[in-house]
Amino acid sequence: DWIMGDYIAEAVEKIRAQVGKEEVILGLSGGVDSSVAAALIHRAIGDQLTCVFVDHGLLRLNEGQMVMDMFGRNFGMKIIHVDATDQFMGKLAGVSDPEAKRKIIGKEFVEVFQAESGKLTAAKWLAQGTIYPDVIESAGAKSKKATTIKSHHNVGGLPDTLHLKLLEPLRELFKDEVRKLGVALGLPPEMVYRHPFPGPGLGVRILGEVKKDYADLLRRADAIFIEELRNTIDPATNKNWYDLTSQAFAVFLPVKSVGVMGDGRTYEYVVALRAVQTQDFMTAHWAHLPHELLGKVSNRIINEVRGINRVVYDISGKPPATIEWE
Ligand code: XMP
Repeated sequence: DWIMGDYIAEAVEKIRAQVGKEEVILGLSGGVDSSVAAALIHRAIGDQLTCVFVDHGLLRLNEGQMVMDMFGRNFGMKIIHVDATDQFMGKLAGVSDPEAKRKIIGKEFVEVFQAESGKLTAAKWLAQGTIYPDVIESAGAKSKKATTIKSHHNVGGLPDTLHLKLLEPLRELFKDEVRKLGVALGLPPEMVYRHPFPGPGLGVRILGEVKKDYADLLRRADAIFIEELRNTIDPATNKNWYDLTSQAFAVFLPVKSVGVMGDGRTYEYVVALRAVQTQDFMTAHWAHLPHELLGKVSNRIINEVRGINRVVYDISGKPPATIEWE
């Protein structure tokens, strides 16, 4: 609409005035905020922007390729893809405590990003997809001693060791405004309206020690779940179940149970499905998904993902459970 058009024109002018002819780097995570920030800044300054996309190996199925296709090919952005899977897996080997895992992933992420950014010696600016709720939250965290249940690692926040000037064009926007802006800038609505995905990614959806094999199994199970949610319409609302849930994903349980396949016995891993409805993610209800949908997802996962022979559905509310299992 025209209001958004005006907003974009104004924001573009502001970025140009701020940055001038200098170079900008931005850490692209594939999430909504950094994606919209990238699209907006690219609209303003084109090739003066370089994005660094750190792939920690804990992304969803084909996510890295999707990010590269969309920003590299469609938008024609300068983008550096760092596949740091082995490095992250190496650091995570033998670590099973959830908070320790979060800290390792957060620290490693910063290190990889900074090493890569350090090579871009012309850069004077660090762009971040900080949005208004982040600004309030960090102000609150400084003034209050927050009681942390989980130390949220968000790939947006980076310590200032690169001594770059900060460019944060989304600082005044709420999430719904960021989404509208993203669509107006030409990002696909399916990506702009995606469920939230935690910074540590599948690292907190593989219980205990993270292994690449586990991540590969989980990615495939999760993709089947999401595909079926998107393809199943609820007749009462005429919406699909992806849009009717606030967050939905598969969790890898590193325990084996016995199954039967053909004439043989199997002894394989378990996947839990989690789907919740919530306004604010502080409290949440488990989603009452149709049994036929759950049955279809379970059948498909067990038939298509060798290595998983049992699927369970999580019916815990928050509180007392949290949305993620770690
Ligand atoms: P919980 O599991 O605490 O999650 O009920 C609430 C919301 O926060 C997300 N979450 C995270 N997001 N880094 C993030 O960026 C994290 O470490 C993290 N842990 C949980 C979770 O996906 C849910 O939307």
